[in-house]
Amino acid sequence: MPCAIAPLVVESDEELGTRRKVSGIENAGTRNCVIGLSFIFLAVGCVVWVIRDRRDPLRSAPTESVTEAVGLPQEGPMKSKFVTNSPWKTGRLKAGKRSLIDAFKDAFPNEKDWWATSFPASNHPDKTWWWQDVVYWAQYELLNRTNHTFPDGKVPIPVAKHGDDQLDPGHYVGYTRRQVCYLAAAALTGAEVDGYANGLTRYLSKKGPDGCLPRKSLFGKALFGLLTTCAADPMLSGGLHGPMLLVVKHKTIPNLESQLKNWSKTLPMSESGFRLCRYEEGSVYKQGFLPGIPNSPKELCSQPTSNGPGVDYLSTPALKQALVDSSGPWVGGNLYGGSCGTEGNLEEALMAFMPEVAVLSLFLSQDLQHPQLRAPAWVLGARMILTGLDGTRHWTNWRTNPDMAFRTGLTTLELEGQQMLVSNRKPFVAAVPAFQVRL
Ligand SMILES: *[C@@H]1O[C@H](CO)[C@@H](O)[C@H](O)[C@H]1NC(C)=O
Ligand SMILES: *[C@@H]1O[C@H](CO)[C@@H](O)[C@H](O)[C@H]1NC(C)=O
Ligand SMILES: *[C@@H]1O[C@H](CO)[C@@H](O)[C@H](O)[C@H]1NC(C)=O
Repeated sequence: MPCAIAPLVVESDEELGTRRKVSGIENAGTRNCVIGLSFIFLAVGCVVWVIRDRRDPLRSAPTESVTEAVGLPQEGPMKSKFVTNSPWKTGRLKAGKRSLIDAFKDAFPNEKDWWATSFPASNHPDKTWWWQDVVYWAQYELLNRTNHTFPDGKVPIPVAKHGDDQLDPGHYVGYTRRQVCYLAAAALTGAEVDGYANGLTRYLSKKGPDGCLPRKSLFGKALFGLLTTCAADPMLSGGLHGPMLLVVKHKTIPNLESQLKNWSKTLPMSESGFRLCRYEEGSVYKQGFLPGIPNSPKELCSQPTSNGPGVDYLSTPALKQALVDSSGPWVGGNLYGGSCGTEGNLEEALMAFMPEVAVLSLFLSQDLQHPQLRAPAWVLGARMILTGLDGTRHWTNWRTNPDMAFRTGLTTLELEGQQMLVSNRKPFVAAVPAFQVRL
């Protein structure tokens, strides 16, 4: 039984290499849940390893000059192009099987259901994005400009030695925001990559429970929601590539269980700064459920209203809230054949709300049964694209998040001497328990 999601607050503004501190854990209803020391230490040891937050956005917003540098991907100091330290190959994108308009009609059979959205943080805050605008943008600004998005029209794909997915331990791969948008749009049209049976295109037409099809269900809607944010993104306008999305796998740690137990001796839980969010948990312990544990601050914890979610570990817009998803062996859980977006557990549903994670997880595998990234893995730079999700999953009024952060919530990340901008709205950690501690 996979665990729910335990969020972490990672203080990431200390020197790299020094011991980082997990400053708070919002305990998210740990029924039947093995959280664990294992997650905590995996996160301390690894997530933090990759997050370098030089300019702490809580204290100083990114300067305009930095975001402008991204506007000049090839000329500025910031890289905004495919990066990897893995061996890689390329695959030519074949023509799609259906037009984007047909793909849209599959996802939104009744066009009145379209999530028309305005984005206050975009360059045109008053513009409402109708589906025609989005399809037009995705066709003419994205799909018709393949060579601009992928040199010579070939998609780079990392190659792993051992293979259920495309990344070996110790490797990373990064695509630009534009490239992730492109992969989503191409997959919606049913486009395949020559010689590479990527999971994304396959998943969209893979029958799920009761014969549902992801591209005709919430997942298809979510990809159009993602494309709406791509179309409105000032960091993609005029052909820009925008910030990076990175998938990182840490190196294998020998004797992990023993190592974690040893580390735990020098990192007492009492110093970890637990905080508690009592969010819609229906507890009978009205007072003092965990005496001495302070409550989470308001930006991390406020109760839902009658209209929708409040603020909990999933819905919080606060920065630097890594989302720890214990999805078992596959990022997105039993998505493939098991869910079209709403079915399944949280780890499956989360893929519709964070479609950037789903695009990367599915694109980076051609496994037969589970074409998804293997955990543990980190996806950095993804955002919560849809709203309406909290830990209770009670709500069904999903839609594209109008409060998308485009140029804000970015952090500079340095990988092997290359600097790049990455969104730090929701660092995503797909963890697997290194050992089990029943709470
Ligand atoms: C753009 O793509 C559409 C659909 O594939 C195609 O019919 C059209 O010719 C393309 N236009 C250009 C200018 O490439
Ligand atoms: C894209 O690049 C390929 C390979 O270089 C070339 O054959 C093709 O004509 C280019 N397409 C466009 C629209 O420029
Ligand atoms: C953990 O500590 C024990 C006892 O000190 C030691 O024998 C063992 O080798 C350590 N494990 C690792 C992986 O360092």
